[in-house]
Amino acid sequence: MNKSDAYNLKYHITPPYGLLNDPNGLAYFNHQYHVFYQWNPKGTEHKNKCWGHVVSSDLVHWQRKSVALEPSEWYDKDGIYSGGGIVHNEKLYLFYTGNVIRDDGVKESYQCAAISEDGEYFQKIGPLFEHPKGYTRHVRDPKVWRDQHGNWWLIVGAQREDLTGDTLIYKSKNLSEWECQGSFVDHDHQFGYMWECPDVLHFAENDVFVFSPQGLPERGEYYKNPNQSGYIVGKLSNTGKFNGNLSDFKELDRGFDFYAPQSFKVNDRTIMFGWMSAMNEEAERAVPTIQEGWIHALTLPREVVLMNGVLYQKPLPELQLLRLDDMHYKGEIQNNSEWLLPSTQAELIVHFSLLTENFKMIIRDAVQIDYDWEQNSLTVWRTNWLTGEREYRKATLNNKLAEMQIFIESSSLELFVNEGEEVFSLRYFIEDADQRNVLLEAGDNVGEVRMYQLQECVG
Ligand code: FRU
Repeated sequence: MNKSDAYNLKYHITPPYGLLNDPNGLAYFNHQYHVFYQWNPKGTEHKNKCWGHVVSSDLVHWQRKSVALEPSEWYDKDGIYSGGGIVHNEKLYLFYTGNVIRDDGVKESYQCAAISEDGEYFQKIGPLFEHPKGYTRHVRDPKVWRDQHGNWWLIVGAQREDLTGDTLIYKSKNLSEWECQGSFVDHDHQFGYMWECPDVLHFAENDVFVFSPQGLPERGEYYKNPNQSGYIVGKLSNTGKFNGNLSDFKELDRGFDFYAPQSFKVNDRTIMFGWMSAMNEEAERAVPTIQEGWIHALTLPREVVLMNGVLYQKPLPELQLLRLDDMHYKGEIQNNSEWLLPSTQAELIVHFSLLTENFKMIIRDAVQIDYDWEQNSLTVWRTNWLTGEREYRKATLNNKLAEMQIFIESSSLELFVNEGEEVFSLRYFIEDADQRNVLLEAGDNVGEVRMYQLQECVG
């Protein structure tokens, strides 16, 4: 089955076929960026998880590699679940969770590692440690880093026996013997029933704990997706505790489709990818690309910066390499402007200089962005492909709306607001591959629009 032009994503990382979920094992090794991802090569359901693999020298042009990790051992026979990567002594280490369903039906998970000298073929080294008492079998997604004293730290998402989410932290001097240091964040109340994909970002002034708690109840404009990904800012102690408040938890992305992000640091830049899906099972089963034998994508890479206690997520400057030659269009915004996108792979930048009223923007007759001037809020609408109903996500901005940078593909859209103050990532599905209209109902001369055609970058 071929990917159709109506839905194919050409500059995002997608699976060649089958199902993709979380970004995994992000690393810069042997002059290449390595991105792995959860992959079911055998179908579009959440089964048979392996690690798919792509490499790039510029974070824009990606080349597919053969499957990096697949079930082969007693400790990972039913799936290679998520985890991170590090580079040490000229080797690439991947940490992952081995998923096992025993003959009696009992499910188990093991935290494992695999090592490679060439970045392509990996030698598994099996389970690293046992889990402490007081936790269910839901312990997964190891992520490792090294501190300035040479200690290695590993965090892993977990569920306590009272069915509350948690994260465990382990310490090692040699990457093979690991000692459990207990909970990463001390908390005694319920904040979701399971924390997936924990990650720690290190900045000069503070540290940031990123995780994906499952089961937070919807609260106003927050937590509207089935599961959330967000962060708290705090400080890492040298005993491996994170001092920060769960009550400060902030969602990373305000769109419909963002989950299980992972970051890595290269030359002082923290770069993050997310999984562009946060749909419930029913909506997932109805995604039309399933008819073409594939489903889901990663987000574009974002540079993550901490400013005044807020994580900004900016599109990487490298993404300018996606632009096909010169600017396709540049013009002032007039009352009720209408344009044609150069293609369904496009970038649209809107600069506002004199915004004093609401506006409405409709892209490809599918995604609508409403700005409320009094509230200084943006609301993004799409049609739910399962129910046919219009649905929205909304964010109120802290700063005046100055810029929207929008990356459009035939079935995805990422809106970066004010250089990453807020981001909305989403999928949408329309059958008309040629629909390229953009409509902007705004005041006269409120700013300027630029458009670029973007090229295919994932082989
Ligand atoms: C998050 C997740 C991880 C797990 C992986 C399995 O989407 O549930 O916790 O390791 O997916 O594919």
